[in-house]
Amino acid sequence: MKYADLVVLNCNQLLTCQGTIPKRSKALKDVGIIKNGCIASLKGAIVFIGHYKNFQKEFSLTNEGEIIDAKGLTVLPGFVDPHTHLPFAGGREEEFSLRLQGYSYQQLAEKGMGIQTSVKATRRASREELVFLCLSRLDSMLLHGTTTVEAKSGYGLNRKDEIKQLEAIREANIQHPIDIIPTFMGAHEVPPEYRSNKDAYIDLLIDSILPEVRNKKLAVFFDVFCEEGVYSVPETRRMVRAAKDLGFQIKIHADEFSALGGAQMAAEEGAISADHLMALSEEGIQALSQSNTAATFLPAVPFFLMQEKKAPARALINKGAIVALATDFNPGSSMTESMHFIMQLAVYTLGMGIEESINAATANAAYAAGIDKEVGSLEIGKKMDLILCDSPNYLYLVYHLGINPVKHVIKNGQIVIRDRQPALDFNQ
Ligand code: NIG
Ligand code: FE
Repeated sequence: MKYADLVVLNCNQLLTCQGTIPKRSKALKDVGIIKNGCIASLKGAIVFIGHYKNFQKEFSLTNEGEIIDAKGLTVLPGFVDPHTHLPFAGGREEEFSLRLQGYSYQQLAEKGMGIQTSVKATRRASREELVFLCLSRLDSMLLHGTTTVEAKSGYGLNRKDEIKQLEAIREANIQHPIDIIPTFMGAHEVPPEYRSNKDAYIDLLIDSILPEVRNKKLAVFFDVFCEEGVYSVPETRRMVRAAKDLGFQIKIHADEFSALGGAQMAAEEGAISADHLMALSEEGIQALSQSNTAATFLPAVPFFLMQEKKAPARALINKGAIVALATDFNPGSSMTESMHFIMQLAVYTLGMGIEESINAATANAAYAAGIDKEVGSLEIGKKMDLILCDSPNYLYLVYHLGINPVKHVIKNGQIVIRDRQPALDFNQ
């Protein structure tokens, strides 16, 4: 007899998101629905997926095991958010209000606001303050169904404050049930001290900060904002090659406002993802479609900035690109922790199908975060990370607007949100 210590049964619809991952083209439409499904785990790992009558034939519940009745609920993998700027201090609501009065995001940046505002506040914050901020944002993410998140530094822009942000991420990862994949983004902007001498900062980053981050094992990924007025393609490539030599994997903020060709470079350099892509060119579409680099869409950004230009999601999907979704959670261009909202924006504003948006927020998002062997789909041996939504079927996840459907969240086989409240009884 085999054992399980957590069983979820009677799921109206159980979406496994199984298949060959990453998913491309037509495979994105398959969310692996099991009607009246059952899923079970032991010590955090999935041991059974199917129907309860088959579970009963082979399995017993351990003494302290728990059964959850998911009648009326839709159950799917916990969301993976593969692009966030989690550890920042301060808000930018005043700038948001200025934008409503007609100033553009770029105009505010030219006035020394924008990212620089957050750099000042983040430099002033202590490591402990950043940990506290990360934890409360992670609480909000968990309530909205995210169980794994990528988090970037990039508001320190010097050795000390970048390391401080990465240490805050490390500490938050220890304290919170959500798993965090850390990214070093010291090239998020040109630091104010180096405005007239960008090359000196690039040298410092390559010669000193990158090796220190690597030695201290503070980040898995290296990310660069490749954009007009920030880092050019050759500058980005130089930093990326140095990071690769040190063993980092690569992510690029590419072709957000101007079609510099960051996406082509990301594909050439074997980056795991190229993100934003609002200004992606035809060549960029070709390059990403024929590569293993995920095209990560951040549809809250054009929504939040009220810009018409959107990432060419349909063209990329039709040409076979790997597509993923992320919040880009940050104070300036996307102040949202909700992957559920992002899925809805992907459907309503990028022309993605509901099934495509689900796979892009789970299985392919896990690929874009480099952890698809562990999470993002429900398969025997993977982590028991799932969300139980108060939705009669999966179409409701996108159809029903302006609410949070997440009722229970299971992380690593433990109930961490129960009836929409943080569960106090989980063990770290
Ligand atoms: O991913 N594009 C660059 N960085 C962030 C915005 C950062 C900010 O405005 O603070 C982004 O959208
Ligand atoms: Fe970003």
